[in-house]
Amino acid sequence: MNEYQGHLHFVANNTLTLDKGPSAVVETLPNPADQLGHKHPPVAQPSWKEIAPKLESPEVKLRIADMLSRYPQAQGALLEVLWIAQEALGWVPREAIRWAAGVCGCSPAHAFGVATFYTMYKHAPTGRFLLQFCRNISCHVMGAPDVIGYTEKTLNIKTGGTTPDGLFTLVQVECLGACGNGPVMLVNDEFATDVENGKLTLKPGVGLTPERIDKILKWCYAREAEFKVEPSRDALGGVVNGHKGHSGAPGASAKSQVADYAPPCPILGVKAVASEAGVTLTWKGAPEFTQIAVERLEGSSWKSIGAPGLKDKEFIDATGKAGSEYRMIATSGARVAKPSAVAKAIEKAG
Ligand code: FES
Repeated sequence: MNEYQGHLHFVANNTLTLDKGPSAVVETLPNPADQLGHKHPPVAQPSWKEIAPKLESPEVKLRIADMLSRYPQAQGALLEVLWIAQEALGWVPREAIRWAAGVCGCSPAHAFGVATFYTMYKHAPTGRFLLQFCRNISCHVMGAPDVIGYTEKTLNIKTGGTTPDGLFTLVQVECLGACGNGPVMLVNDEFATDVENGKLTLKPGVGLTPERIDKILKWCYAREAEFKVEPSRDALGGVVNGHKGHSGAPGASAKSQVADYAPPCPILGVKAVASEAGVTLTWKGAPEFTQIAVERLEGSSWKSIGAPGLKDKEFIDATGKAGSEYRMIATSGARVAKPSAVAKAIEKAG
């Protein structure tokens, strides 16, 4: 039998406090975040006066107004507001957290808890290129420790460190959602496992190797001078250029990335039973749709034959008979979901 040795640990990113250092309890426990490089060395905190010009710029105000308009409660926008602060300042100093709390109408303590829970928020300035290496299981078995070790050696820094020229900071993170490319990394907000035609690339099945790390570092050095601004972002703060991750990946936005994307149908288990009264349709549905319609197959095309109420549990097609085929269409707001599975009417048993 194989024997495995190792550690089970959780990322602790919550050892900051607003005004004091870590508590004594936290100090007595090993902090696995140190292993991954998510350290929060004490850094000089800028005053509100210093950061105000960036957080109160017309552009930021516009984005905040847009963001708040998307949520029924301002607090729902907290993650995005913190993200905007990080984008404007490069990290989220304490005063920026207080500002975000004010914008979202929640307590500074709540905003602080949120900002320190997610490792995507930086609590100290980092190098110009933040290299985030996935160290999770798929990347690990595909050689992440080797490429991380190689990069540490090449840059002469340890995980969590920043090169003396301020160009690179190296950290390790949990699954980036691009496991098929393992080992994989993010260079700032862009996935990268290779460089082609002067661009960072993430091609299916192409993972990081020491040779590709060399190419990526070379790309960074070459871009140092011109890479003065963050990659362009959409109104939600998601990266628009060159982003190939799923919508939940770091830097991605909640906007669908496929123009005619339709969500899966929230109506399940459609059944059609024929009797003397016609065909009775029943279904189960998630509550998010705002309108439903029943369609019947006529020849080779679908024809709408009715729109049950949202609370209805059945629909009777008086002209239907055994063998008729039905499907249901759900609409949620302005978005029409994919059609439900097709139900063929069967004779009522006994
Ligand atoms: S395990 Fe590395 S991206 Fe998922």
